[in-house]
Amino acid sequence: MDTAAIDTLIGQARETLAAAADAAALANAKARYLGRDGELTRRMKELGKAAPAERAAQGKRLNEVKQAIEALVAEREAQIERALLAERLAQEAIDVTLPGRGTGRGGLHPITLTIERVEEIFRSIGFDVADGPEIEEDFFNFTALNTPENHPARSMHDTFYVEGGLLLRTHTSPMQIRYARLHQPPIRVIAPGKTYRVDSDATHSPMFHQVEGLWVDEGVSLADLKNVYTDFVAQFFERDDIEVRFRPSYFPFTEPSAEIDIRFPDGPLAGRWLEVCGSGQVHPNVIRNIGLDPERYVGFAFGSGIERLAMLRYGVGDLRQFYENDLRFLQQFAR
Ligand code: FA5
Ligand code: MG
Repeated sequence: MDTAAIDTLIGQARETLAAAADAAALANAKARYLGRDGELTRRMKELGKAAPAERAAQGKRLNEVKQAIEALVAEREAQIERALLAERLAQEAIDVTLPGRGTGRGGLHPITLTIERVEEIFRSIGFDVADGPEIEEDFFNFTALNTPENHPARSMHDTFYVEGGLLLRTHTSPMQIRYARLHQPPIRVIAPGKTYRVDSDATHSPMFHQVEGLWVDEGVSLADLKNVYTDFVAQFFERDDIEVRFRPSYFPFTEPSAEIDIRFPDGPLAGRWLEVCGSGQVHPNVIRNIGLDPERYVGFAFGSGIERLAMLRYGVGDLRQFYENDLRFLQQFAR
């Protein structure tokens, strides 16, 4: 093999290797020269046929060619690897100049804020805060509240009944019974929570919230209820010029019963009486049902609509907005 032949072989190898675009093609190209049936290997095998005087020099040359081709392979290998890396980096590149997606900070729902506010106010005047089940027994929702099976007041609530004789509580009043049965007077408690009725329009929702209040002790009077609620209204709305009025009403579990209305002196609702609460003196039968002597103990109870309070405080016109989860609406309450 003369110098020209060697140059040609190395030149060919360089071209073949350069044409290999990826690792697999490179392996094939390498095999064409250095593999078992490769060109160089073939020549090495033929070495035996060469004249003994030529053999050593020829062998040395072939070895050099082999090293040269191996160097070319290594170089091409490195090129392919670099290209691959560059391509991957380009694909995975992050444009740090693009504006980020932004994770908005969450906020409490206005109904939750309202409940927390109510709890805070009543806690500050010594009321406990209680909780109870939303899936309720007929007994606690109606019977124990002096509303027997055939009582016409049961139709006042269009009730969602569920399996097993249970129902979705139609008001928070069953929590009066549950709490009072486990505690001794003086009982001062509020119980906020979800309530359910078959009812839906701009001021009524099938699921809404109420907060129940109960105060049972010896010698409490309607004046105490009036003071507590009037004080609550002033603190809740942060102003003491709101009028509070007790309007005679009817609930089976209170006697006498009153609807509590409030009136703002100014603003969009100026001069209009707005119902915010049902209330009354706990009926002697209910006092008996919680295991106390109605001759000795008197109680006052109320049930306020939380949405109603929230609408008045925040100036929301349609109660359904509370449940649509429109971020533009909710964001206004985030703190
Ligand atoms: C009651 O539910 C009585 N349990 C309240 C009560 C408690 C009276 C203790 C006496 C003693 P009423 O059905 O009026 O009463 O409901 C009370 C308040 O809940 C209403 O003033 C109103 O603000 C709110 N409310 C009633 N139905 C809905 C509704 N579908 N959607 C939104 N709010 C409602
Ligand atoms: Mg009512």
